[in-house]
Amino acid sequence: MEHYRFSEKHRELLGFIQTEPVLHSLLFQMKIHHLPTYQHILRATLVVEDLAERLGFNPEKCYLGKMGMILHDMGKLRVPSRILDAIVRPVGEDWGLMRSHVAFTRDILLESGIKNRDMMYIALAHHEFQTESYPRQERKAWVHEERRSVTSQINDLAELVVVSDKLDASLYRKDQQNTLTPREKILRDFTGNSDLVTEVMRYAA
Ligand SMILES: [Fe+2]
Ligand SMILES: [Fe+2]
Repeated sequence: MEHYRFSEKHRELLGFIQTEPVLHSLLFQMKIHHLPTYQHILRATLVVEDLAERLGFNPEKCYLGKMGMILHDMGKLRVPSRILDAIVRPVGEDWGLMRSHVAFTRDILLESGIKNRDMMYIALAHHEFQTESYPRQERKAWVHEERRSVTSQINDLAELVVVSDKLDASLYRKDQQNTLTPREKILRDFTGNSDLVTEVMRYAA
């Protein structure tokens, strides 16, 4: 895994988080609540940060991508860990809670004073661009008009977050059948720019 070649970047990321009290507090809570999600967030952030840089996004946009990725699954702080740990897809009320994690992310961002609309869009769009876009029905996850006002670059960053999220799920999630390769899993699920699948697969080498 190229992740392990990122050890310097990993240290840099942890250092960055230390300097951001809101991120530090949220990630600390996540580490206690659900360690696998905490680890997923860090791994996926290293990928999206490098990918955005490599694809030529400027430092300001790379920062937005990084922040969006760090924040994207924070709503899982409000989903019981027994649901997050389920090997088979939860049903009934549990599935409802799982589906709501994007709306919970929005609530947590607002409660934490994070109001940057681009950052919020990138974080909240992380189940978009997918064949099974479950929170898409949950329009309430969106505040104001983030979706209408985004620029194409912000939309592209949101796609980078999704494809990096998918890569991590394809490599680490336990509740998946192993009949497909990681690349096949991402291609099956991701409906965004297919060139990004090739790009992101470099991190699985
Ligand atoms: Fe998610
Ligand atoms: Fe995620």
